[in-house]
Amino acid sequence: MRARWTMPRPDDWHLHLRDGDALASVVGATASVFRRAIVMPNLKPPVVDLAGARAYRERIQRAARDAGQPGFEPLMTLYLTDRTSPQVIREAQASGLVYACKLYPAGATTNSDAGVTNILGLDAVLQTMAEVGLPLLVHGEVVHADTDIFDREERFLSEVLGPLIDRHPGLRVVLEHITTRAAVAFVRAHDAGLGATITAHHLLANRNDMLVGGIRPHLYCLPVLKREEDRRALLDAATSDDARFFLGTDSAPHRVEDKESACGCAGSYTAPWAMALYAEAFDSVGRMDRLEAFACQRGPDFYGLPRNTLADGALTIERVAGADDDQRKADATLPRIPARLPFGRSEVVPFRAGAALRFAVTCAAA
Ligand code: NCD
Ligand code: ZN
Repeated sequence: MRARWTMPRPDDWHLHLRDGDALASVVGATASVFRRAIVMPNLKPPVVDLAGARAYRERIQRAARDAGQPGFEPLMTLYLTDRTSPQVIREAQASGLVYACKLYPAGATTNSDAGVTNILGLDAVLQTMAEVGLPLLVHGEVVHADTDIFDREERFLSEVLGPLIDRHPGLRVVLEHITTRAAVAFVRAHDAGLGATITAHHLLANRNDMLVGGIRPHLYCLPVLKREEDRRALLDAATSDDARFFLGTDSAPHRVEDKESACGCAGSYTAPWAMALYAEAFDSVGRMDRLEAFACQRGPDFYGLPRNTLADGALTIERVAGADDDQRKADATLPRIPARLPFGRSEVVPFRAGAALRFAVTCAAA
């Protein structure tokens, strides 16, 4: 059986890098594997205009240089608020530094308080984005208190996203970190102007993993993990030949004390092992042949950017262990995800902390 694959360096189309000393702790993990990343703007305060994006980009580039990865290219995004103007969009697009704008329904997730309360009020801004060719990235969940948290994504599709796409047919939209069978079907029913990112953790875990036998706060992210049938649908979409489904880790580190708390916050940290985790998911359905398209081709194609080539550096993925969980647990020679990693002045517990990896990933610089 084949056990080794080589491909160009991938890109991450949905990433949280945080700021300050936390940024310094995590940027190297992404930049040593991924050549580019779409960087989420949900800082405190959020990145709402070109000046903010430019300054954040410089901080990321400095941190990447300090981490020995000067070639890493952060693709900046703006955080839409009720006060974003068409002028802000035009200025951002003209700069060549901003690649998309992010719609957080106010209150939907971490640092979304400044998000949009009335999406209809955003029509002039969305119109301008369509005109200048800036994609809209969507956190697709409704936030009504009376909507069950497991239904929030599906409700968003029919109540908000469908009408939004109908009002703005020229707008390119990415439905971020999809988690349900309904979202897969929704994307398939639309045209190539609608894409979707899929995380490694939603391909590998379901809500039982998070809740059966005890609550595991490091698996709590938003949109929340769903049923096994949803996980299966995501795996089917990611490993299909449909160009609209592509890689976005949504790697979202938090301090351990903010996760292991009576009111723990949402987000799973996957960046350092993201490609090994995706490989495990693709291999589980015998579709390693589709990983390169998912990780290296469909994202740049959607954004109209050049694909990375082997001349930008080569990624090698090697299967180092079989599928048997018990054997893997017992094998002390396998590489393991550490229990904790430094994160600013605290620590972060990564997704699958302590587990043995089935794939080893190495990245040769260009
Ligand atoms: C993200 C974060 O921590 O910034 N959390 C998460 O659970 N995914 C925000 C987000 O993408 O929803
Ligand atoms: Zn995110």
